[in-house]
Amino acid sequence: QSHEQINSKHTIEPHVLMFPIPFQGPVNCFLKLAELLCLSGIHVTFLNTQHIHRPLLRHTEVLSRFSRYPNFRFETIPDGVEHETPVSVDRFLEVMAGVDVVTKPLFREMMVSGRFSWESERPVTVMIPDAYFSFAVDVAKEASVPVICFETVSPCCLWTSYLNLPTLIEAGDVPFKGNDLDELITSIPGTEQIIRRRDLASQCRSTDMSSQSIELIVKEAHAVPEAQGLILNTFEELDSLILKHMRKLCPNIYTIGPLHTLHKAQLTANTNPLQENNFSNSVWKEDRTCMSWLDEHDPKTVLYISIGSLATMTIDQLVEIWYGVINSGTPFLWVRRPGSIIGGYDESQVPDELLARTKEIGCIVEWAPQEDVLAHPAIGGFLTHSGWNSTMESITQGIPMVCWPNFVDQQVNSRFVEEVWKVGVDIKDTCDRLQVEKAVRDIMDSKRNVYTQSANTWANLAKESITKTGSSSIHLARLIDDILAMSL
Ligand code: UDX
Repeated sequence: QSHEQINSKHTIEPHVLMFPIPFQGPVNCFLKLAELLCLSGIHVTFLNTQHIHRPLLRHTEVLSRFSRYPNFRFETIPDGVEHETPVSVDRFLEVMAGVDVVTKPLFREMMVSGRFSWESERPVTVMIPDAYFSFAVDVAKEASVPVICFETVSPCCLWTSYLNLPTLIEAGDVPFKGNDLDELITSIPGTEQIIRRRDLASQCRSTDMSSQSIELIVKEAHAVPEAQGLILNTFEELDSLILKHMRKLCPNIYTIGPLHTLHKAQLTANTNPLQENNFSNSVWKEDRTCMSWLDEHDPKTVLYISIGSLATMTIDQLVEIWYGVINSGTPFLWVRRPGSIIGGYDESQVPDELLARTKEIGCIVEWAPQEDVLAHPAIGGFLTHSGWNSTMESITQGIPMVCWPNFVDQQVNSRFVEEVWKVGVDIKDTCDRLQVEKAVRDIMDSKRNVYTQSANTWANLAKESITKTGSSSIHLARLIDDILAMSL
C-alpha cells in the first residue's frame, strides 16, 4: 500500500511511536522495524533516551538513510545517564535506574498531557514500546492509545524465564536456593525435557527474591499480555515448540524474523537498485579490514569469535579461550571490543606463545561488520556469547556455533542451540582450554557434518520465511494492516 493510498482512507494519519530500551541491540532491531513501517507509508516517531542517541548522532550513514523518509523522525527523552552507550553489562541496572527515575515520569506526563511537540500536528495512533517497558504499556492504556510490544530478546527466554517467572517462583525454582543446576525445570509448558536450572535467564540465578534483577523482570513482564499484540524476532518454524504455548497467554503474536534479512530484502526491493544501501545500524565504527583477511582463507576454515556489545570476560577467561582456539589449530577472526576485558589487559599478561601463534593464524579487530563476516564463505564456525541477534544471524547463514553465554537470555539461547535446533555446542558455566578446543574441533571438524546439516535446514527455513509468501512476510503485512486498522 502506498502512502497516498493510506492517506486517502484515513482522516487521522497512522502514526506509530516506537520506544526501544536504550541499548545498542534493541535500538538496532527497532530501527529495522521502523524502516519497514516507513516503507509502507506509516509515520514513525522514534523515541530514544538521550544517552543512546548521542553516539547515533555521529553515525552519518544511519542518519542519512533515515533522512530519506519524510514520514520518519527521531525524538529524544532524558534518561539522566551521563556516559555514552554502555560497553559492559554492569551498567545495565544503572541505565535502567535512570530510565525509572527520569524517563518514566516524564514520558507519562508528556504522553498523557499530549505535550510531546509532534502531538499537536499528528497524534500518535499506535505505540510500539520495548516489551521491557511495562510503564509504556500502562501509559498507552491511560492515553487510550493501542499498544503492541516488541520483544527483542529471544522468545525462548521470554517464555521460559520472563512470562513464566511467577510459575517458577511458585514452584520454588526461583530464587535459586543452592539447588542442583542440572535439575530439569518441569513447570514450564513446552520445555519440560529441555531446560535445566542453569539454562534459565541469568537474572533467575539470584538467591535472593528481593534482588533487583528478579524484581525488575516481575515488574516488566506483567504488561506484555496486556498489550494488543507482541512482535517477536523469530520465524514460526524456529520457535514452534514454544509459540503455541505463548499464544495462549498472548494470542496476537507477530513473528517477523529473522528481522535483519527481512529488512534487507524489503529495503532492496523498495529502493532504487543504483542506490547504495548500508543496512547496518551499528552505533560503533566497523573495521572492514578483516574482510580482506577473510578473502585469503579457504571456505569454511575460519572461526569467528565475538561476545557482542555488552558481555565481558576476565583476563583468565580470555587466556583459556585463547589457548583453546589456538590449540585447535583453527584460524580465527576475534572481535575484542574495548571494555570487554574486565580491568583491561596488556600483552605482558599474555603468554608469548599465544601472541606468536596469533600473528600466524589470527586477526583481531575492535568491532567487525558482523553480518557481512558471517556471510563470508571463509567462516565455518562462530564462538559466540549467544546474544539473540548473533544467534539469529548465525542461524540465517547456516553457521554452527560454540556457545559461551554470559547473561540475560544467552543462557536460554545456548541451550536451544544445542538441544532444540542442534546447531552447536553449549559450554556454559565452563571456561577451560581443553573444553574450548574440543568444542571448536567438534563444530569445525569432527562433528561438522551433523551440525552443518541442521544449520543448513534452519538457514533454508529462515530464507523461506522472508519470501513474499513466507510466514514472516505475512506477519509483517498483518502487523501493518493492524496498525492501519487501529489508527482509523
Ligand atoms: C544484548 C544481549 O546480549 C542479547 O542477548 C539480547 O538479546 C539483546 O541485547 P548483545 O550483547 O549486543 O545484545 O548481543 P546480540 O544480540 O548478539 O547483538 C550484537 C549485535 O552486534 C549483532 O547484531 C551483531 O551483528 C553486532 N555486532 C557484534 C557487530 O556488528 N560487530 C561486532 O563486532 C560484534
